[in-house]
Formats: sequence, C-alpha cells, structure tokens
Amino acid sequence: MIDLHAHILYGFDDGAKDRDTCCRMLELYAAGKVDTVCASSHSAANIDNRYEEYFARSAELAASFGITLLPALEYALTDLLAHPDKHLGNGKYFLLDTANFPVDNALINKLKPLNSAGNCFLWAHPERLHIADPVKTARNYALLRGSGCQLNGASLLGLFGKEVKIAAWKLLESGFCSVISSDAHTTDEVNAWLKAKQQLTAFYPDDMVNFWFDTNPQRIISGLTAERRETPTLSLKKRFLRLFQN
Ligand SMILES: [Fe+2]
Repeated sequence: MIDLHAHILYGFDDGAKDRDTCCRMLELYAAGKVDTVCASSHSAANIDNRYEEYFARSAELAASFGITLLPALEYALTDLLAHPDKHLGNGKYFLLDTANFPVDNALINKLKPLNSAGNCFLWAHPERLHIADPVKTARNYALLRGSGCQLNGASLLGLFGKEVKIAAWKLLESGFCSVISSDAHTTDEVNAWLKAKQQLTAFYPDDMVNFWFDTNPQRIISGLTAERRETPTLSLKKRFLRLFQN
C-alpha cells in the first residue's frame, strides 16, 4: 500500500512537527501494511533548497519501520512552472495543488508544454478546491494527457465538512479518482486514510479499493501512466448506508 501525498518530513514546512510525531505516523503506516510513502512537502518550503537534508533524516527513520520514503513536492502552480524538477517518486507525475486557480483553458495552456515534454499531473484533492463541481473540473484536467485526481481519505469521511464529503463521493463515483492518499500532517490524517480504506471495502470489491490505494499509486511512482477505471455503481441499499459513514 502506498501513500502518495504526505507531509511527513519532520521539522520541515508544516509537516510532522517533530521526530516523535513522525515516528507515530510511521507506526500507523507500518501497522496498516503501508510500505511506501511520498514525502510531498509544499514546493514553497523548498525555496531554500533544504528539502534533501530533511528528506535524508526522515527517510532513515522511515527505513527503521520498514517503510520507503520517496521524494516529491506538492507544487503550487507558480513554483511548478518555475522549477519543475521533483516528480512523485521515480515517475513522471507532478503533484499539483491548483489552490484558487480556476481550471480553465488558460491554466491548461500553461501546463501543455510540460505535458508535451512527457510529464503528467496528479491533481491534489480537487474535492477540497473545486467543491461546486469537482467532476466538471476533473473533465478539464483530463484535457492534459495522463491526468489523474488524488482524493484525501479524510474528505470521504466528512472530516472537512459535508460539502467536501459530497464532492469527494461525486468524484469517486465519476471514475475520475485515480488514487486516494492521506495528505497527512499529523497522525489524524493517517488514521483517517486507513479508516477510509477500511470503509470502502464494505462498498466496493477488493480490486477496486486496491486500485485506489495500491495499483495506481504503484504505476505513478514507477514511471507508468495512471489508469482510468469505471467505479462500480452502488446498490440503493449501499448508497443509503454510505450516507451514515463517518
Ligand atoms: Fe498536502
């Protein structure tokens, strides 16, 4: 199992605040049979070029839990356009947080040169950024070859509020969700991510859940393109039960 989006480097950026917090996050990952985590600190925090130093000490700590840390950044658009140099793991994907930028032709055109050069984009938690119509946004993303959407486990549980939860499930059911990650800064989000996986297994076949938590993440960190897979339609009974999940 792979977490593609985690702020796990301790003492760096707004991630794990200290070594002890990082250890507790790693303990949860290990208990949940997670073997690989992308250390996706915010791109702005890397302006002083200290990412590598903090990555090295956290990666050594992670190894003692049997977990491989892979380098990554959660890019802001302006940083990505200026310094597109850190993919997710060993792949060709950039993790991109579009924040307040509308996903329109102007944005797509800015990213086309990187896309034409063989890079792809994994869009960080669109359910939190484009709440009103996440599926329409995902369709616009898909104008760029290989685009994938990354949902937060905590969004599916409703930890960011009802509207984000509704947007997250819409995206999941649309088939535009490529991976589900934690976006963890603390143990809370790691717990929520693991709980989301457990809950999804009550609704979907194992191979579908593995697709979001393992198969597609593995493709992304390995240099392959994320797959698109239709999400099975839930029965009325399961849709009703889902409303009460939290
Ligand atoms: Fe993040």
